[in-house]
Parts: sequence; C-alpha cells; structure tokens
Amino acid sequence: MSVLEVRDLRVELDTPRGTAHIVNGLDYTVDAGETVAIVGESGSGKSVSVMALLGLLPGHARVGGSARFEDRELVGASESELRTVRGNGIGMVFQDPMTSLNPVLTIGRQVSEGLLAHRLVPSKKAARERAADLLADVGLPDPRGVLDRYPHQLSGGMRQRVVIAIALAGNPRLLIADEATTALDVTVQAQILDLVARLQDEHGTGVVWITHDLGVVAGTADRVLVMYGGRCVEDGTVQEVFDAPAHPYTRGLLGSLPSLESPTEDLVAIPGTPPPPTDLPPGCVFHPRCPVRGDARCATEQPPLVPVGSSGTHRAATFYGLEER
Ligand SMILES: Nc1ncnc2c1ncn2[C@@H]1O[C@H](COP(=O)(O)OP(=O)(O)OP(=O)(O)O)[C@@H](O)[C@H]1O
Ligand SMILES: [Mg+2]
Repeated sequence: MSVLEVRDLRVELDTPRGTAHIVNGLDYTVDAGETVAIVGESGSGKSVSVMALLGLLPGHARVGGSARFEDRELVGASESELRTVRGNGIGMVFQDPMTSLNPVLTIGRQVSEGLLAHRLVPSKKAARERAADLLADVGLPDPRGVLDRYPHQLSGGMRQRVVIAIALAGNPRLLIADEATTALDVTVQAQILDLVARLQDEHGTGVVWITHDLGVVAGTADRVLVMYGGRCVEDGTVQEVFDAPAHPYTRGLLGSLPSLESPTEDLVAIPGTPPPPTDLPPGCVFHPRCPVRGDARCATEQPPLVPVGSSGTHRAATFYGLEER
C-alpha cells in the first residue's frame, strides 16, 4: 500500500529573472515501510519538491499536479488541513534545522508541543517523559538536561538531532528527511538511520530521504529517484540504478562516488553546472552537459521517462541507448 503518491508535481515561481520552473512533472510513490531516496546536484529541486507537499513554499509559488498522502490530497489543501498532517501523519526534517526551532522556547516545550497538541500523551508530565526518551533515542547525552535548554545553547549537531526527535515524535506514517544527517558525525548518523529503520519496522513508516551521500542511499534506501532540472531523469531500485545506471547524468553522479576498492581515486565532477530554473534548455534538460549526446533530437525533444529492461521498476529519461532497451 502506498503512503504517498506523487503525480505530475509541478512548482513554478515568478522571479525578477522570469518564471522559475523548479519542479517539472515529478511522479513517484512511497509504499508503507519503504525508503525512497532523492538524489541530484544542488539546485535540482529536491527541497522545493518536498516543501511543496506540505504547503511550505512562499505564497506566490504555483504548485500543480497531485500528491496523495494516504487518502488525502495535499496539493491545494487548506492551511489547517496541512497543519494537521504536518504534526500527525507526516514528520519532516528540514535542511536548515534553525528555521524549524523556535529560539525563545525550551527544547522540552518544543518536543512536547506536538505530542500534546495531537493528544499523543495524556499529560504534560507524560509529554516531558516521552520527550526525554525521544532525545535519548536520537543519541543526545543528558536528555533531561537538554529539555530545559534553548536552541542557542546547543551545538548544530545537537539541534539537528532535536529536529529529528520532533519529526519522529508522533510516529509518523511518512517521514521526509532533507539532508537530515549530513551535518552529523558518522556514528550519530548510523544511530539515527537505525532508529528510522526501527520506526519503519514497527509502524510501517514510509520514508523520503534526500541526501548527497550516495553511501547512505546504498545502505538504507529501497529505491532511488535521480533529479535533474526539476525532473526525474532516472528511478529504480537501488541495485538497478547503482549497478546499471542508464542515464548519462546518473553515470556521472555515480562516477563521483569514491570507490571502496580504490579509495585514493579522485572525485569525478560532471563538467559544467546545472541550468538555472529560469532558463531551462529545450530538449533534454541535461543535453548541454551530456558527454554522449547524440543527434539533434537531444536538443529539441524531451526524452520521456520509459522503462529500462523488463523489471517494471527501472526507468530513465534519455535517448542514449534507447534503441537497445
Ligand atoms: N523561494 C524561491 N524563490 C526563487 N527560487 C527559488 C526559491 N526556492 C528555491 N529556488 C530555486 O529553485 C531551485 C531548486 O532549489 P532546491 O532548494 O529545491 O534545490 P535542492 O535540490 O534542494 O539543492 P541542495 O542540494 O543545494 O539542497 C534552485 O535553483 C533555487 O535557486
Ligand atoms: Mg535542498
């Protein structure tokens, strides 16, 4: 059963430099208990695509398409509906933890707030107990002491763990984690990945995990979606995409993965930079940087996202190798 079903999601915004086409028709589903990783270079629209689901974009952003969370349509939902879903149903960890913590409230108050608002605990005392347990779960030393502190009294890594604890507080059916563990050291990161895996086992939580860390993707995700220029250029199971990437962009990204066999190998950056969303190229959005671009059609026609092989789970949007598929 799918917890999240995203269909033709689009986001555009008017900017002084013209209309920015930030998300351009994204389709994916997340099943209960499943982890879908979203990867792609900086600026590919990963954060905007998930902020759009929760109504967290600036008011002038235009969001189109559909995103169903269980039986609820999120696109176009009212602010009060979305608020209910955000606290109770979907947990989200933002890329910048400072924006999601209130500087003038204690950590204890902020972790307890959602628990009380959604009646997940019977009393303030129980909320404090549960908050301390959650802080211990995310690996914070002295969780009771942390309850009485303010955000500025914690290190960046500690704040990040508080934000994760808040997102997990309501046992969400969907967790959206945007670079949630990037700033944490590897042992804490491993502890948090374990905690999320436990939550998935116990509650069937579906997870959308946005990360630059391909090692995390390989270790935790079931499926991976590769974004470029606000589109999905390739998706499939982690094994399909990592073992046999079909899109030249994915090949480039995976070429940037330091290999365990030859750890001294330099990172291979893909030459060039992604196009700004106000100035997307015609044709295949990747063609100006593509090392294997072919005939004129790459520059004029948009390659559709079509199956690779016969698994039914692997798709890529490229003309490259299309004839052999
Ligand atoms: N409020 C906004 N107004 C105008 N443009 C925006 C706004 N928010 C994001 N953008 C643009 O949308 C594009 C996608 O941004 P987004 O933050 O989703 O990228 P990302 O894939 O999450 O990148 P990163 O890996 O750096 O987090 C970028 O070009 C960004 O400049
Ligand atoms: Mg981002």
